Amino acid sequence: AVTHVHQFVIQEASVKRLCKTQHVMTVNGMYPGPTLEIKNGDTLSVKVINKGKYNVTIHWHGVRQMRTGWADGPEFVTQCPIRPGGSYTYRFTVRGQEGTLWWHAHSSWLRATVYGALLIQPREGTNFPFAKPDRQSTLLLGEWWNANPVDVVREATRTGAAPNISDAYTINGQPGDLYNCSTQDTVVVPISSGETNLLRVVNSAMNQPLFFTIANHKFTVVGADASYVKPFTTSVLMLGPGQTTDVLISGDQPAGRYYMAARAYQSAQNAPFDNTTTTAILEYKSAACSSGNSSCSLTNPIMPRLPAFNDTPTVTAFSTSFRSRERALVPAQIDESLFFTVGLGLNNCPPNFNGTRFTASMNNVSFSLPSNFSLLQAHIQGIRGVFTSDFPAAPPRVFDYTGNVSRSLWQPATGTKLYRLKYGSRVQVVLQDTSIVTPENHPIHLHGYDFYIIAEGFGNYNPKTDSSKFNLVDPPLRNTAAVPVGGWAVIRFVADNPGVWLMHCHLDVHITWGLAMAFLVEDGVGKLEAIEPPPEDLPICS
Ligand code: C2O
Repeated sequence: AVTHVHQFVIQEASVKRLCKTQHVMTVNGMYPGPTLEIKNGDTLSVKVINKGKYNVTIHWHGVRQMRTGWADGPEFVTQCPIRPGGSYTYRFTVRGQEGTLWWHAHSSWLRATVYGALLIQPREGTNFPFAKPDRQSTLLLGEWWNANPVDVVREATRTGAAPNISDAYTINGQPGDLYNCSTQDTVVVPISSGETNLLRVVNSAMNQPLFFTIANHKFTVVGADASYVKPFTTSVLMLGPGQTTDVLISGDQPAGRYYMAARAYQSAQNAPFDNTTTTAILEYKSAACSSGNSSCSLTNPIMPRLPAFNDTPTVTAFSTSFRSRERALVPAQIDESLFFTVGLGLNNCPPNFNGTRFTASMNNVSFSLPSNFSLLQAHIQGIRGVFTSDFPAAPPRVFDYTGNVSRSLWQPATGTKLYRLKYGSRVQVVLQDTSIVTPENHPIHLHGYDFYIIAEGFGNYNPKTDSSKFNLVDPPLRNTAAVPVGGWAVIRFVADNPGVWLMHCHLDVHITWGLAMAFLVEDGVGKLEAIEPPPEDLPICS
């Protein structure tokens, strides 16, 4: 195994998109940031130097961080932010994960431009569990504003309203052909006739689940969130923010140019959303059209058909097709049976807000971060008064979650509440969407763990009948679950990684509104069941 050493300088850069220049935060001046490529078993050492004007942290989305929780990154959870002028080295080893993950800023809305891919190739001396692809291409789907994203969220926080919708979706930072001033820079993905290309697709958008498809080509899905899945074919993917999907495509169509396209899956009702389409071009390499041959005349790309923005049946058909490739190690018995509502709310504290200020919660607790210590530091050093350990195992009362919810339940209480887990406990969480304000497909992400999604469905979860739907044989292993709109998902994991681990909706505006909680996983016995000591350069708050 190898240690890869990188330096990430956080700095402002001018980026021109949609005919306008914005000054945004970047890593090393790049938008999106650098792609990191390692093998399963390798170690990463990334020194982050903050030369920008905002506090920042970097999160390694989906990396299990076994016993290295200090390197996880969410601000005020596992570390205090790196202040302008400061630095911090994230050091961790990737074990047992193969496929595609990514990294992103975990402070304010900096991740809108501070993000990149983390490609994990098979462990040294091993191969993919499928025929080796001829090429690999990474496609980071993103969202772009004609504004500084930090200002967009600041304004939303000030007013309590929903933030402005984005002005474009992007593929590898480029809006593509269908937007103004973007044609020249449209991303081109190569393929040759007869070849296979492994596409690593990441939804790094801030607030929008996205459909993704390619004209005239089918996908064979082989992995998700850095775990292999039993291959299945589909012509359209749906990824919630945070999720990754690895697919094989074959160069089995007439040589030519084909659009790849992404646009919104929008499940929230009556909410404005960015209804534009981003494109890249899949281009067949042929002798006549090798790069630099300007006499080659390229055909206009063929446009694919994308599902309607509210096509939930297509989403369900896709999300229920995932099976883990190996027999899953899903716990058959559970020690902790938890039930978490996930949903929105409206704060109606008079006189200022009059029921117009958005909020969001799990089990009616709207999560608030501390500002003087990180939760992990407070836990390890026994600092009192930073958090409480009374996050409720169930909502305050049973109600019709997906029906007409009584207005008295629209206003959650704010708190910094953690749920304490014994080392090694076997945990089940039912994630239940609510129709408070609107039902919506929430991508729920757990830090420090992969979990099995053993069932999903619509309506209110019914413990008596729905447990018969549990797949304990080959459920998919993921770090982000797209909980069905107006429905539920059941996840299981074993609490074998001590530390403090955030679980939150990966629609960034929902974290801003409090749709988060954190697990405190206690140390077990002995050194190998305990979190490592904090690195010496760990940023502290004051
Ligand atoms: Cu991808 Cu808490 O984040």
